[in-house]
Amino acid sequence: MPLFAILTLFPEAIEPYLGASVLGSARERGLIETLVVDFRDFTRDRHRTVDDRPFGGGPGMLLRPEPIADCIEWLEARHGAFRRIALCPSGAVFRQEFAEDLSRQERVLLLAGRYEGFDERVLEAFAFERLSLGDFVLSGGELPALCVLEAAARLIPGALGDEESARQDSFSTPAAGARLLDTPHYTRPRSWRGLDVPPVLLSGNHAQIERWRARAALERTERVRPDLLAARPAPPPALRD
Ligand SMILES: C[S@@+](CC[C@H](N)C(=O)[O-])C[C@H]1O[C@@H](n2cnc3c(N)ncnc32)[C@H](O)[C@@H]1O
Repeated sequence: MPLFAILTLFPEAIEPYLGASVLGSARERGLIETLVVDFRDFTRDRHRTVDDRPFGGGPGMLLRPEPIADCIEWLEARHGAFRRIALCPSGAVFRQEFAEDLSRQERVLLLAGRYEGFDERVLEAFAFERLSLGDFVLSGGELPALCVLEAAARLIPGALGDEESARQDSFSTPAAGARLLDTPHYTRPRSWRGLDVPPVLLSGNHAQIERWRARAALERTERVRPDLLAARPAPPPALRD
């Protein structure tokens, strides 16, 4: 069973989310195992100090390397080596491809920072990959770690009620190899506040519906996220009719 470990100073911020919804059910059904470790427990001084002032001056505090290193070594001695990921605004932006890759790993370690972040050496010494959630700054890596964990765990076979739903999501890979945004969706009522469901979706003609959905997904992607299309071959002419 894949094991996801989160190293954090705020386990209480993480635990409740891991028990809810898709993640909670994946844990209960034995599809994933999670471990939340407080690296403050690996400090060796009376005050349980995890941070210190930066060399060279400047505002804020940095996470010292030793408790994090001791925590990783303890964890890996018990479970074996992990794929190690540090959450950092200066990392590569997290994408669906990365989530897919993580969903196939045996052990993933997610390191959540606080304060001004990490002493660079601990990331180097343990060959961390660095992941960012996007071009903004949060106060801690707990939410990013949960986002990464959930994005990966929901792709593990059996985690979602219907496997097909993950395949249809935005950024997932359809047969043509493009990573498009999801198509617009509609449910009851058929007419609401003067807005009607597109008639093709009520036609019962599955071939036409699939064609409409593919075209709508492509149009939405072109409008909202043209960057997703820039790196891929031109779509088949059928989608452009
Ligand atoms: C206040 S931030 C540190 C920001 C750091 N000084 C910088 O500018 O890159 C504290 C912690 O929050 C987490 N964090 C904040 N924003 C993030 C983002 N966009 N992606 C991933 N982690 C983030 C990281 O774990 C980071 O160590």
